[in-house]
Amino acid sequence: MTFTHAITRRPGKDMASGITTSTLGPPDCIKALEQFDAYVDALNRCGLSVTVLDPLEGHPDGHFVEDAAVVTPDVAVITNPGAPPRRGEVRSIAAALQHYRQTVWVQPPGTIDGGDVLMVGRHFFIGLSDRTNQQGARQLGEAVTGFGCTWTPVPVAAGLHFKSSVNAVSEDTLLLTRDFADHPALAGFHRIVVLPQEAYAGNTLRVNDRLIMPAGFPDTRQKLQALGKPIIELDVSEFRKMDGGLTCLSLRF
Ligand code: GLY
Repeated sequence: MTFTHAITRRPGKDMASGITTSTLGPPDCIKALEQFDAYVDALNRCGLSVTVLDPLEGHPDGHFVEDAAVVTPDVAVITNPGAPPRRGEVRSIAAALQHYRQTVWVQPPGTIDGGDVLMVGRHFFIGLSDRTNQQGARQLGEAVTGFGCTWTPVPVAAGLHFKSSVNAVSEDTLLLTRDFADHPALAGFHRIVVLPQEAYAGNTLRVNDRLIMPAGFPDTRQKLQALGKPIIELDVSEFRKMDGGLTCLSLRF
C-alpha cells in the first residue's frame, strides 16, 4: 500500500499520566513535543500529507493515534481499545478518517488496538494481546475479508502490542524480535532478527520506500541498510517511556 496521508495528534501536557509499564522514568513533555515535530517532518519528507490534530483533553495517550483505527485501502475500522481509559479516543479519530474512508466500528465485547495489527500486502496479522481479544480480532478479520483480504491471529506473549516486536520493512521481509523469530505464522517471510539488547528497534516504521527507525540501535541499522532503502533515524525516547514508538504515533494511508 502506497501511503499519501497520515493522521497524527500532538501530545498534551498530561502525557505523563498515560498508561505505561516502562521503568525509564517520566517523559519530558517539552522534549516530547520536539520529537513529535521531528516525526511529522520525517513523514513529510516521505511524501505524506500530514494532519496534526490538537491534543485530546483527558486522554493522555491520545497521541498514540494508531491504536484507535485500522486503515486499509478499502475501509477504516474504528477500534474498541483494550484499555478502558483509551476508549474515548476513537470518536475524534473516526471524525478525521470519515473524509477518506467508509468507517466500520468494532463492537464490545470485542477489543482491539491498532498497534496489534500488521498489514503486509493484502494480509493482516492480528496480535492477540492484553489489548486485543479473540472477538475483536475476528471482527476486524471479517471486515477486511469482505474486501478480499486475509488474516491470521498471532498470540503476543511479549511486548505491549504485536508491532512493538514485528514490522514489515519490505513486501517480503519482517523485522522482528527473537520472541517471534520462529513463529510458524511468519515463516513465509525473510526475517531480520534484532538483538535482544536492541529489541525496541523492532518498532521500525516503513513509509513507502523509506524506513524510519528509532535512534541508537547500530546493529539493527546495519542489518536494515542491506535492504538498500533510505533510513531516517529519530529519537523517540520520551514516547518510549510511555510504551510508545514510531508506529503508534500515526495512522498512514
Ligand atoms: N501508553 C500507551 C498504551 O499503553 O496504550
